[in-house]
Parts: sequence; structure tokens; C-alpha cells
Amino acid sequence: MNQAPLLRSFDPLKTPKPAIAQGLDAGLVRVYPRLEIEIGCGVGLHPIKRAALSQESLYVAIEHTRERYGKFERRLENLRAKDPGAIPNLIPIHANAISWISHHIEPASVDHYWIMYPNPYPKKKHLNQRWYAMPFTSHLVTTLKPGGRLTLVTNMKYYADEAEVAFTQQYGLKLEERKELTLGFDPRTHFEKKYLERGEVCFELSWSN
Ligand SMILES: C[S@@+](CC[C@H](N)C(=O)[O-])C[C@H]1O[C@@H](n2cnc3c(N)ncnc32)[C@H](O)[C@@H]1O
Repeated sequence: MNQAPLLRSFDPLKTPKPAIAQGLDAGLVRVYPRLEIEIGCGVGLHPIKRAALSQESLYVAIEHTRERYGKFERRLENLRAKDPGAIPNLIPIHANAISWISHHIEPASVDHYWIMYPNPYPKKKHLNQRWYAMPFTSHLVTTLKPGGRLTLVTNMKYYADEAEVAFTQQYGLKLEERKELTLGFDPRTHFEKKYLERGEVCFELSWSN
């Protein structure tokens, strides 16, 4: 039986400010009726595909490593060099998602969070670095709109099982879907491609608020 980790309190304003000052452009927020945020988007394949599909959403994609963010930014610059109007709803953010969301995202303002293949932190001593067990996550949930969604995808079954318990029992979200992805599924991210080609099963869970 999976145990949900204990919740600890979190004060977003005590979180260090993000290194970049850039927040959400109020003009863009008015233009797009929906807000989606991807945490840890790596080199940006999923945000580029998803933002192009969800044209009614402002899509914010956050990555904190310089190398992966740089590849994402170059990919987007190349697309926009060919077509200056390409995916105008996609906003890349080079920041730590915890700091950036804590300082720039209002309560009950997000329609959909995406966490695709988070670092699994398999050692028990690193439990509080898994997204479902971080103190920050109680704050993250308060930024979801009523009816908003959170989607998490992982190749680690323990991570999927523990996240299912935590988001449902501790954060009070409703599990809408849990599915398994296998070879043949059209990969949306670099990590998804790697795991599916290795023959691994990936787990996608989606909750609503
Ligand atoms: C295993 S990779 C997956 C990348 C991508 N989602 C994919 O599926 O190809 C996890 C990513 O999350 C990023 N990440 C982890 N913690 C983060 C944080 N607090 N803020 C922003 N990015 C973070 C890492 O830098 C890394 O690129």
C-alpha cells in the first residue's frame, strides 16, 4: 500500500525570487482565455506541439538548466525565423519553476499543469524532491482554477503510484485518468521517445481540481 507523504506548509513569498524578472504579460493573459504551464520542459518538444494545438491557451514552458533551455530557445527561434508569427501563444521561461510560479502565478489562475518525465529521485532520502511530495506542491494546487487539470507522465511505476495517492488523498484532486503508454505511442518528448524505444511502459495520470 502506498503511503502519501506528510504535507508541510509552504510560503510562496519566502521562496527566493527567480533570476529573471519576466513575469506573465498582462496583455497576453487578456488575449488567451486559458493558461497552461509546463514544468521542466527540457528541450521543448512538447510545448511546441501542445501550444500549436491549444491555440486558445497561453502556454508557458519552464526549464531551469541552461543547456536544455538553450536548445529549446534555438528550436523556437528557428521556427520563428521561418515564420515570424509561429506559435505566438508559447512563452519560454528560463527559471526554476518553484520560484517563478511562486512569484508570478495567482491563485486559481491555471487551467492545466504538465509535468512530463520529472527527475525520479528514487532514493528515499530524496523523497521530498519528487513533485508530489514537495512542500511547494500544496501551493501549486492552489493556483489551479476550479476544474483545472494536472497531468504527470513518468516511466517509474512507484512514482506514478505514489503520485496517484498523494494528489488524490492529500491535495484533494480527482483522478480523471490513468493510462499506460507503450511502443507505438507517438512520443511527445525526448525522454518519452527514449523510454518507449527501450520497451518501457510509461504512466500518464491526469487529475482535475
Ligand atoms: C527528466 S527531464 C525531462 C525533460 C522533458 N520534460 C522531457 O520529457 O523530455 C526533467 C527536466 O525537468 C527540469 N527541472 C527539474 N526541476 C525543475 C525546476 N524546479 N524548474 C525548472 N525545470 C526543472 C530538468 O532540468 C530537466 O530538464
